Amino acid sequence: MKKYSRRSLVSAGLVSGILMPGLVSAATRVITPSGTEGPFYPDQLPLDTDNDLVKLGADGKSAAGQVFHLMGRVMNKAGKPYPGFILEIWQCDANGVYLHSGDARRSRYDENFQGFGTTITSKNGEYRFRTITPVSYPGRTPHIHYKIKAPNRREFTSQLYLAGHPQNDRDFLYRRLGNSSAQKAASVALIPAVELEKGAVKGTFDIVLS
Ligand SMILES: [Fe+2]
Repeated sequence: MKKYSRRSLVSAGLVSGILMPGLVSAATRVITPSGTEGPFYPDQLPLDTDNDLVKLGADGKSAAGQVFHLMGRVMNKAGKPYPGFILEIWQCDANGVYLHSGDARRSRYDENFQGFGTTITSKNGEYRFRTITPVSYPGRTPHIHYKIKAPNRREFTSQLYLAGHPQNDRDFLYRRLGNSSAQKAASVALIPAVELEKGAVKGTFDIVLS
């Protein structure tokens, strides 16, 4: 059987951080680009701010939209995990409306959608959210806003995009990322996740901080 070198596997795309996290070298990791906060960080946080945005409180109703399991790790360029970091996400509902009094369509907000969630990275730097696949709204391609907070560190703020979405190339903030490696480092690929729940998708997004 032919032996493949580590280098040829990497160039063939057969070694990924998902399958072999220990083998991705610092040289191949791209620092995750930061992005603007935007105008809709919730001005009033929901009562429930856990990592399941599809369920708000205990009333049992689910938000409209496709369930999206978002997971990954927060680490430095060498792959060293950052445990105990606070990760916040916020995004519009399935109709493109934000949980924010300044959104002109606020009255149409899906009251079953949490709109904002937080979690704390595990000892291996891992995080996980159950949310909905982001949708576009006028002027923007689908995205999820996020922030990372940790003691003695400057807050990191950015936006996560959907890899290959047809509207990305027309989005002014996506375009501002400038080149394909930065755009790739700010995007997550969605794959079906029927093993988790019917109709759901999942995506792994590692966040590499300098
Ligand atoms: Fe936004």
